[in-house]
Amino acid sequence: MTTGIESEIIVLSFYRAAELHGARLLLNLMNHLRDGETQAKLTRHIADETRHAWLLTRRIAEVGGVPREVGADGYQRQLGRGIALPRDVIDLLALTLVAEERALARYTFQAEHPAVAAATREVFRAVSADEQWHIDWVRQRLFDLADQRSLDERKILQKVATYRAAEERVYAALLQAEAMLT
Ligand SMILES: [Fe+2]
Ligand SMILES: [Fe+2]
Repeated sequence: MTTGIESEIIVLSFYRAAELHGARLLLNLMNHLRDGETQAKLTRHIADETRHAWLLTRRIAEVGGVPREVGADGYQRQLGRGIALPRDVIDLLALTLVAEERALARYTFQAEHPAVAAATREVFRAVSADEQWHIDWVRQRLFDLADQRSLDERKILQKVATYRAAEERVYAALLQAEAMLT
């Protein structure tokens, strides 16, 4: 039987893996968006995501564990399987936007959930504080780039909607893991 602490470690490990995969996606974006302003934003963003991964890791250590391998069940890996591989910078930005929206929604939910331990709730609160900025600048950069390339805004919105729909499908695995915690 899975104990409360074990469930907590599994859920924290899930989020930790998602943060680290998010950081990898952002490092990838760094090769595509070379202008100084975006490089500065990406650097801050990557620093945030790796810090989030650390806060989650530290909380796992506090409850007496080590990070679990979430492997094939990991949110980002499932997401990668559920959708066409992003080839273009527009796709990478759209996918990042969708993942950031989900992160904010889940961290906010977890931070308010009464069954979550107080110290863990504090971690979710600290982490969620950064996510709105991530959403805002990525969305802005996506639409600016679309504008520069004279792409139809409706096509971009459609692309984001397609990623969102794919994300909804793979999200079930994360919900299942969370159900063990709450
Ligand atoms: Fe994050
Ligand atoms: Fe984020």
